[in-house]
Amino acid sequence: MSAPVSMGTKATENISARVEAGQAAAGEAARADRLRRRFPTIEELRRRARWRVPRFAFDFIDGGANDEDCARRNAAALSAVELLPRYCIDTRGLSTEVELFGRRYAAPFGVAPMGSGGLMWPGAEEYLAREAQRRNIPYILATPANASIERIAELAPDVFWFQLYRFAANDHAITFDLLRRADIAGAHVLVPTIDSAGKSKRPRDIRSGVTVPFKASPMTVLQVATSPLWALALYKTGMLRSENVVPYTKGPATRDSTAQVIMQVRSSGSHTWDELARLRDRWKRAFVVKGVLHPADAERLVSLGVDGMIVSNHGGRHFDGAPASIDILPAIVAAVGSRATVMVDSGIRGGLDIVRALALGAKAAFAGRPFLYGVGALGKVGARHVTDMFFDELRTEFQHVGVRSVAEAATITARHPGAWRHQNPPSP
Ligand code: FNR
Repeated sequence: MSAPVSMGTKATENISARVEAGQAAAGEAARADRLRRRFPTIEELRRRARWRVPRFAFDFIDGGANDEDCARRNAAALSAVELLPRYCIDTRGLSTEVELFGRRYAAPFGVAPMGSGGLMWPGAEEYLAREAQRRNIPYILATPANASIERIAELAPDVFWFQLYRFAANDHAITFDLLRRADIAGAHVLVPTIDSAGKSKRPRDIRSGVTVPFKASPMTVLQVATSPLWALALYKTGMLRSENVVPYTKGPATRDSTAQVIMQVRSSGSHTWDELARLRDRWKRAFVVKGVLHPADAERLVSLGVDGMIVSNHGGRHFDGAPASIDILPAIVAAVGSRATVMVDSGIRGGLDIVRALALGAKAAFAGRPFLYGVGALGKVGARHVTDMFFDELRTEFQHVGVRSVAEAATITARHPGAWRHQNPPSP
């Protein structure tokens, strides 16, 4: 007698579990829809973040070097690129998937590496890494991030790349140790950044005292006090420090002592060609150099044996005289050809910019600040909202231009008024 009763109970449990899952999915969809209507663009998220986050922290993320011309140039250069659509094409079943270094990702965009992301919202790196894993897009953890290599490898094992800075002291002991840890943690791609040649002058940070060591002033204390949700998030997460360098501090690993280690990066300049060769030698998986702007440097990286490169001006945070990365992209693609995978970042703000990058020869595009604006504006759900927005827009723009895949996007006819022309250096 008991069997039919328990089967009946099981069936009822199954049905109610399905009902609950259905209700949860409907609730999730309703929330996503509300967010779509309230924050349809990255700029709206940016404005909301500016309101929710203490001003010194928001400015650190949002700001650029010197007069912030380069950051503006990125946006203007992208919007100047026009794409010629093809019509009468059946785009049903289009795919945004892309293969990068032997792995298939769901889309040709990813999260660029950002140090101190937790300043925008404590826990930002973890939110973004989880979301990247859920949606199967690349997530690049920065050396000076507020989450460690080991933690991100746990949260995003399938999509985790590691960005590497240069620590010249002691024959690069820290650099090589970070590489070793990234290898053990299973990072799919190592991304040494070369465009941090010196310290940068960011007037907003100078004004608000975001220096090392950080100097709290009555103004910053007031800004925190008037951002209660941010302060609560910080209280829950605990101290913000550069987690990756915790093992290398002198004495206890505090915010200031980890920042002192990170300062070595700023004072010691960028990886030299010899050092890149040593890193390439030690790293057995994909090796992608970030911060490439000169086609001759791109050429030299190919001869060094890199698998790929990210054309980038660091979002205008370092050298204000740099060209928009989208404007130099075609010259780099021409120099590299099919010998390495060329990707781009700086100024990407949505699906249309991603399609522009693909049309001009990039295999993928990365965005930095947009993802942090999302978490600054909305916390955890912000990571999902920005990713949803990028996916939705990308599919829509594919339909508008009449392409069904990333490969087809490379054939779009484009007008690119800002493009640099570069005479390819003669081969050696
Ligand atoms: C960065 N970026 C960066 N790049 C890198 O290689 N290592 C790093 O530690 C950092 N840190 C960092 C912090 C913050 C707050 C920002 C906004 C950016 C640069 C980043 O990877 C990327 O190149 C730019 O963010 C791209 O420009 P957009 O998308 O922000 O306009």
